[in-house]
Amino acid sequence: PDRDHLVACLPKCELHIHIEGSLEPEMVFALARRNHIRLPWDSVEALRRAYAFGSLQDFLDVYYVGMSVLVTEHDFYDLALAYLRRAHADNVVHVEMFFDPQGHTSRGIAFDTVVNGLSRACTQAREELGIRASLIMCVLRHLDEADAQRTLDAALAHRDRIVGVGLDSSEKGNPPEKFARVFARARDAGFSLFAHAGEEGPPDYVWQALDVLGVARVDHGNRALEDDVLVARLARDRVPLTVCPLSNLRLRVVDDLRHHPLRHMMEKGLAVTVNSDDPAYFGGYVNDNFSAVARALDLSASDIVALARSSFTAAMMTDAERAAAL
Ligand code: ADE
Ligand code: ZN
Repeated sequence: PDRDHLVACLPKCELHIHIEGSLEPEMVFALARRNHIRLPWDSVEALRRAYAFGSLQDFLDVYYVGMSVLVTEHDFYDLALAYLRRAHADNVVHVEMFFDPQGHTSRGIAFDTVVNGLSRACTQAREELGIRASLIMCVLRHLDEADAQRTLDAALAHRDRIVGVGLDSSEKGNPPEKFARVFARARDAGFSLFAHAGEEGPPDYVWQALDVLGVARVDHGNRALEDDVLVARLARDRVPLTVCPLSNLRLRVVDDLRHHPLRHMMEKGLAVTVNSDDPAYFGGYVNDNFSAVARALDLSASDIVALARSSFTAAMMTDAERAAAL
């Protein structure tokens, strides 16, 4: 009530959103019809029933089929614009948007089609709504290094429209070091670097994200709490963690939001932010994530303000941009 009102009013940045994870079931069916694509579900309700996930992999299996309805530049534009309007309604003023090019190029969609559609939506949303949005290309870690290198080659042709490179998909068995050379090249090209780590994978994967890849932020990072030395390192260097409470609940990273580690992370001096991850699949956009975790952990108004403020500190913004956005 009061808490939800505060959450709604605060300006925020969203730093962990997979644009393909904002594809709502209704849009999945609308685009399937538009593009004459057959789906393994016969209704919106049947698709929603498939959203009972036991693990990250259960989710990814549905996520990659869901995104197969995205074919034309117009589809990517519609997807991103719908998300940016929704984020704007949540008082999000700055978005760093992940996208998964290999989820599309593997189906024969051109890299350009994806980037053109997404970036056109970002430009339009900035002009019409004032919301700032940039693109971070993620490497699918379940695929091999050569595929990642080819994807980076394609990104280099769009260096002006992509600000960073991230790492996502099936974490277990796919350590960050698998992509050491890809990230070294991305760094040389001037991209900011990010990686999902410690969502399901061990603390060692968070160490690798920091020390082998050299990331500026860790996405999730929950399991870092199992290693006190790692926690001290993250706190000392103020490495932001982009935490996603409803995702963690729906993917069984936590069994109950009341057991979510967000409060412990804050108490240990970690630079935590609250984000939605894949809002269409996990039951809520960024304000829903703030409200749900604040209620479950009984966070105070000043905790909520600190989390919203932290999203600006963790964002890839200059001080001047930060001042202008606030
Ligand atoms: N791709 C989309 N959402 C993801 C998540 N939470 N973890 C890993 N890969 C993802
Ligand atoms: Zn994610």
